[in-house]
Amino acid sequence: MKKFGMKQKLSGLVSAACLLVVGLCVNNPVLAESVPWDETTKELGQTGELPAGRLSKRALQALSDTGKGLFSAQFTPADGAGRPNATQAIIPTKTKRPRQHTLLRTAGPDATACSSCHNQPVLGGASDFVTNVFVSEGFTQADFDSVDPQFSNERGSNHLMGSGLVELLAREMSRDLADIRAKALRTARATEQSVRLPLLTKAVSFGYITAHADGLIDLSEVDGVDADLTVRPFSQKGVMTSLRQFTVNAMNHHHGMQADERFGMAVTGTDDFDGDGYFNELSPGDISALVAWQATLEPPVVETPENSDWIAAAQRGKEAMGAYGCLECHRSTLPLDSLDFYDPGPLDVVGTLSINDVEEAAIYDLSLLHWAASLERNDSGQVLVPLFGDLKRHQMSDRQNNALANEQLSQRFVDRTRFMTAELWGVGSTAPYGHRNDFLTLKSIVLAHGGDAKAARNAFAEADEKAQLDVVAFLKTLVIAP
Ligand code: HEC
Ligand code: HEC
Repeated sequence: MKKFGMKQKLSGLVSAACLLVVGLCVNNPVLAESVPWDETTKELGQTGELPAGRLSKRALQALSDTGKGLFSAQFTPADGAGRPNATQAIIPTKTKRPRQHTLLRTAGPDATACSSCHNQPVLGGASDFVTNVFVSEGFTQADFDSVDPQFSNERGSNHLMGSGLVELLAREMSRDLADIRAKALRTARATEQSVRLPLLTKAVSFGYITAHADGLIDLSEVDGVDADLTVRPFSQKGVMTSLRQFTVNAMNHHHGMQADERFGMAVTGTDDFDGDGYFNELSPGDISALVAWQATLEPPVVETPENSDWIAAAQRGKEAMGAYGCLECHRSTLPLDSLDFYDPGPLDVVGTLSINDVEEAAIYDLSLLHWAASLERNDSGQVLVPLFGDLKRHQMSDRQNNALANEQLSQRFVDRTRFMTAELWGVGSTAPYGHRNDFLTLKSIVLAHGGDAKAARNAFAEADEKAQLDVVAFLKTLVIAP
C-alpha cells in the first residue's frame, strides 16, 4: 500500500467526548478501549491494511463478510455519521452554512444503513418507491427540502446482485473502445488520411470514431457512452464507473460517512472535511470490504415456474421479445473474458482509489464463488453473463411517449431523456419499475418506452393482450434467488 496508512480504530467513548468539545480533540485509540455497547460499528477499521494480490477463497469470504456487516450497519454519530459542513455532492463541497438536520429525506443524509434501501427480496436487493433518492450534484441547491424535480432527479433503488460481473463487463468494453481509439489514431498518422472505425465491443455498437492525420479526433458520431469512451455501468443514468466510486459517493450522500480516499487530508487538505469532529471515518480497507461484498453478490437467476402453462407462456414471451426488438438493448447475455475482479480498479480517477494508487491491487477471483459454476460459457471459454442489458445509454422518449422524460436536471452532461438500458435480470423480484420506481406493472413500464425503443414498444403495444402477458410471464421468471 503506497499512500494510505492503516486506519486507527476509533474509540466510541473518546468519540462521544469529542462531540462535546468539537475541534479540540482527536480520536485516539490509546485513551479508551472500545466496549461492545458504545454505539459504534464494530466492522469499521476491521480490515486494516488494504488487501493485495490474489485472495484465497477463505480470505475473500472473510473480507466480504466484513463488507456485509458494513452494508447492514446502522451508522451513528459515534462512527462519524452526519455531515454538518459538507453537501451530498460527489466532488467534496462545503455547505454555505451548517446544516440543521442530521438526517434529511431530500438532500440527505437520508438513511442510517445501505441496507435500509437495498433489501428486497434479499440484502443487496432493490426496494419500493418509499426509498427513492433525490439525486442532485448539489453545487447550487445543496440543502433543498422539496421533492420538486427542479431540485433533484428522483430515482428508485435498484438491486446490486451480480454487480461484480457488470463492472467486469464494463471494464472490458472500455478497454476495447480505448484500443479502437488508439488504432484509429495510429492508422490515421501512418496513412496520413482520416480513419473512421466502428466502436463495436461485445457486439454492442457505440457509434463511430474518426481520427485525422494531425491527431485530432472527431467524437460527433459516438453514441451511448461518454466522450472518454469509458463505459460507466452504474446508476440508471449510466454515469458511475465502479462499485468503489459508488460506495464512496453513497456513504457520503446517504450517511455522512466520509471515505479518507476522497475526503481525507491528501485530497481536501483537512482531516475533518464534514466538520463533525471525526477524522478517518472510512479507511480504504473499509471501502475495499464493501466492494468485495457487493462484487461477489450472486447474480439473479432464471426460475423455471412450477406451472406448465407458465413455462410455455414464458417461452413464447422470450421469443416475442426477440421479434419485437427488445433484445437489441436488453441483450440476453454479454460475453466476459475474465472473472478476475481487481480492486482498486483501472478506471477510477482522483477521489476514488485506483490501481495506480497502490503497489498491488487485490484480485477477487469470482470463479471461486459457489454460483460461478452455474454460469454458461461459450466455445471460446467466455462466461455468458445473463444480464439482459447492453450497458449503453439510449434516448427513451419521443413526442408520443414521454413518460420517461420526467427529469429536469441533466446529470454529468447526459441528456435528460437518456438512460442506460435497465438490466432485466432480477426484474421479477423488483417491483415497482422504471428509474423513478413509479410504474406499478411490467406492462406499464414497457408501454412507457419511447425514443430509440419506439419500434419495439409499438410492436408490443400492437400485440394482443395474451401475447403481451406472455412477455410478462417471461419477465417474471427473471428473479433474485431468495
Ligand atoms: C435511501 C436509499 C438508499 C441508500 C441508503 C443506499 N442506496 Fe444505493 N441506490 C439507491 C438508489 C435510488 C440507486 C439508483 C441511483 C440512480 O440510478 O441514480 C442506488 C444505486 C446503487 C448502486 C448502483 C447500482 C446500479 O446497478 O446502478 C450501488 C452500487 C449502490 N446503490 C450501493 C449503495 C451502498 C454501498 C450504500 C451504502 C453506503 C447505498 N447504496 C445506500 C438507494 C439507496
Ligand atoms: C432502445 C433500447 C431499448 C429497447 C428496444 C427496449 N428497452 Fe426496455 N429499457 C430500456 C431502458 C433504457 C430502460 C430504463 C428506462 C428508465 O429509465 O426507467 C428500460 C427499462 C425496461 C424495463 C424496466 C426495468 C426495471 O427494472 O424497472 C422493462 C421491464 C423493459 N425495459 C422491458 C422491455 C421490453 C419488454 C421491450 C420490448 C418491447 C424493451 N424493454 C425494449 C431500453 C430499451
